Amino acid sequence: MKVIICGNYSELSIKAADIMEKLIRAKPAIVLGLATGSTPLGLYKELIKRNKEGIISFKKCRSFNLDEYVGLSSGDAQSYRYFMEKNLFDHIDIEKSNTFVPDGQASDIDAYCRWYEQKIQKAGGIDIQVLGLGGDGHIAFNEPGSAFDSRTRVQKLAPQTIEDNSRFFNSMDDVPRLAITMGIGTIMEARKILLLVSGAKKSLIVKKCLEAPVSEKYPASIIQKHPDAVVVLDREAASLLGGK
Ligand code: F6R
Repeated sequence: MKVIICGNYSELSIKAADIMEKLIRAKPAIVLGLATGSTPLGLYKELIKRNKEGIISFKKCRSFNLDEYVGLSSGDAQSYRYFMEKNLFDHIDIEKSNTFVPDGQASDIDAYCRWYEQKIQKAGGIDIQVLGLGGDGHIAFNEPGSAFDSRTRVQKLAPQTIEDNSRFFNSMDDVPRLAITMGIGTIMEARKILLLVSGAKKSLIVKKCLEAPVSEKYPASIIQKHPDAVVVLDREAASLLGGK
């Protein structure tokens, strides 16, 4: 696991974009694993800029998102499909038919989750998986206690996640309680992992996930065992690392 500490969020976003640019240029038909949430927004802005400047193209690439709320349609402004369209896909040259976000309205969710796993396999597996870090140590919606060999499935959101994500909804009651999420086993099969974490609020959970022994109590701690994981932090998120 490689840890890169940047001065601030803007530097973190540029560093993450540099890592992705290198891979996309080396393999134009790359398979991207993407995340939603506040943290990758700066990275997506950078990727859009570099696409518009002709530095990178997404024409041949495919993408798979980590998760989606159960029950929300793709047109719902709170859905992760909508988030991806507005914050990335609408602004780059990717073929929309090559972008996959779990379908929160699938009628047979278990069958759908199996299909999603197969779709990733058939694409040749994920080359680089972008991750954010939940306040409770979750990655995608794999809440504490999720098995390290878990696959794409429905997961009940933890109370802290409901509270954290309520900032995007009118009230806590509006936050869906269930989500489809890639499993930790699914995520760990990505050839490269890029975990981004910003802000002092996450400093303690960063320390627990990166420095404490690997444990299902802190789902992101499994990244310590990935053969090619890069963690990009800003100074605030890294402030408790190294015995501090
Ligand atoms: C989003 C996702 C989540 C977020 C995490 C951090 O697709 O899978 O695990 O990455 O909740 O969210 P932010 O970046 O909003 O702090």
